[in-house]
Amino acid sequence: MITRIPSTIINELISRTNIVELISRRISLKKQGKNFLARCPFHIETHPSFTVNIEKQFYYCFSCGSHGNAIDFLMNYDRLTFLESIKELSIINGISLELNVDILKKNNHQKTNLYQLMNKLSQYYQNILMQRKYLYAYKYLHNRGLNAKTIADFNIGFAPPGWDNIVQKFSFTSYDQTLLDQSGMLISNNKKYKYDRFRNRLMFPIRDIAGRIVAFGGRVITHKKMPKYLNSPDTEIFKKNQHLYGLYETRIQHKNPSHILLVEGYIDVITLTQFGINYAVASLGTTTANHIRLLYNITNQIICCYDGDHAGKKAAWRTLNIVLPYLTDDRQINFIFLPHGEDPDTLIRKIGKNNFLRILTQKQDLSNFLFKTLSQKINLQTLEGRVKLSSLILPMLNKIPGKTLKLCLLQQLGNKIGILDENKLNQLLIKKPILSTNKTRKYCISYGIEHILIGLLIQNPHLAKLVPNIQELKQFKKDDVMILIFTDLVKICKTCPAPTPAQLLEHYRENKFFSKLETLAYWNHLITNDMIETTFIDALTKLYNLTLEQRQEMLIAHDRISGLTTQERQELWLLTQTLSKR
Ligand code: UTP
Ligand code: MN
Repeated sequence: MITRIPSTIINELISRTNIVELISRRISLKKQGKNFLARCPFHIETHPSFTVNIEKQFYYCFSCGSHGNAIDFLMNYDRLTFLESIKELSIINGISLELNVDILKKNNHQKTNLYQLMNKLSQYYQNILMQRKYLYAYKYLHNRGLNAKTIADFNIGFAPPGWDNIVQKFSFTSYDQTLLDQSGMLISNNKKYKYDRFRNRLMFPIRDIAGRIVAFGGRVITHKKMPKYLNSPDTEIFKKNQHLYGLYETRIQHKNPSHILLVEGYIDVITLTQFGINYAVASLGTTTANHIRLLYNITNQIICCYDGDHAGKKAAWRTLNIVLPYLTDDRQINFIFLPHGEDPDTLIRKIGKNNFLRILTQKQDLSNFLFKTLSQKINLQTLEGRVKLSSLILPMLNKIPGKTLKLCLLQQLGNKIGILDENKLNQLLIKKPILSTNKTRKYCISYGIEHILIGLLIQNPHLAKLVPNIQELKQFKKDDVMILIFTDLVKICKTCPAPTPAQLLEHYRENKFFSKLETLAYWNHLITNDMIETTFIDALTKLYNLTLEQRQEMLIAHDRISGLTTQERQELWLLTQTLSKR
């Protein structure tokens, strides 16, 4: 979707937009030093921690961590889509998007039609569920204890058996056909033959936060079929790691619920709601950082429900690690482990709502779960065990933005390992200096020189002019994605006149390393302004030498094993010359 708007246009729009002006039209900003400050519009707070940086053209909330450029702000605050944000910026800046208006229109039009199609499909599946012929499907739901109101409230439907029900009923024109293809509801085994993805399955529509149906989950009713649940693939309107089942339904009941239950299954959400616990959501598969961000925008407390078995504990531990960077002091995460073999659906049916709620009160908080889990694996009677505990927990604590929470956890760690002096404890938290001054040390590359280079470059794009021809880096490190991103960034900085960090980041919105690059863009490196260039050159030299050394070692090894070609021998000689001069 993004690639359809030329990056030059996006660049132009971001560079012309003044993010301070854009945001101050929506919330009131106060100037403070170089930055602007406000109460964060993305969460409830009494003290302002939302900053807008005019140099970087970024906003960042020190409390909830929401951040981004002008496009992100429009997407998050005005709830626009990416393309709508681009359009808005073009209007603000008086740039005519003539060439691209068609694209915008087509794209929006197409999206609208996709939503309509999903809606029609859902109606169709719901009607089928009510047909006498498919009474067995309705009976299945009935036997699982779901009543008519619940079935209707969640718009549960049924996809009949057969390979081409959808193909037959929803593709009259070639445009219908294209739309159906994009909806993810068909599978094509080759260009000629397409068939229905969902066959003989109960259909659970998945809604986005605005209530539009964007995907389906389909459950088998005969046990032999696999997989038990089939989900829509990612499409233009559905991204599995960005949607939560039941979130829209929860929001209808509670605008800002004090807590939300995060459970594993569709049926768990549905049954809990039928029992009056209408604030449960399910992640579709694994829980991601996006899910967590989405939830903490609405509530301050997430209660995760897992099976008490090993797999459940493992999933909880995974979630815990994902949640850490979002834990400001006003937010909480809790864990409930249900009796082995039970899920919220089976348990609430057995023990009823009140007993279920009672179990919820026995939830573990973060520190409880954290220390319990680690202490089980480590013998704290020994010195090694205590050191190990500390080495496992400290990196986790360093990810937590909430100062009080971090301090409390640190004190608990201190109690366990026998260090009670607060200053000493705090020293443990201080990260090692990132750049070693020892020039000859070889393996500091594993500490992430490439990250330092990328971070400094995004934050100070003018540094690109210090980078000489980096063809060799690119050539020898073609498997190292971060190096490739670095060389790519250098190229962009050199071709685009004075890009801002926000513009640079925008190039990578769809890249899987986007969030890593974002982190580097906000990285507080503590390097003083007058040392930035020196540090950058230092890191670059180090990376360059290391790369050459590695190439040299490789050629030497190669020579021993199978001999070198004349060209390679020449290269080795040159390399050795170059390196000996450094
Ligand atoms: P479970 O296997 O625990 O199923 O999967 P469940 O939710 O208890 O389902 P019922 O009660 O048997 O109907 C939990 C969740 O994991 C996903 C689904 O989102 C499911 O709700 N899942 C499970 C899949 O996506 N595919 C599968 O094959 C199985
Ligand atoms: Mn279940």
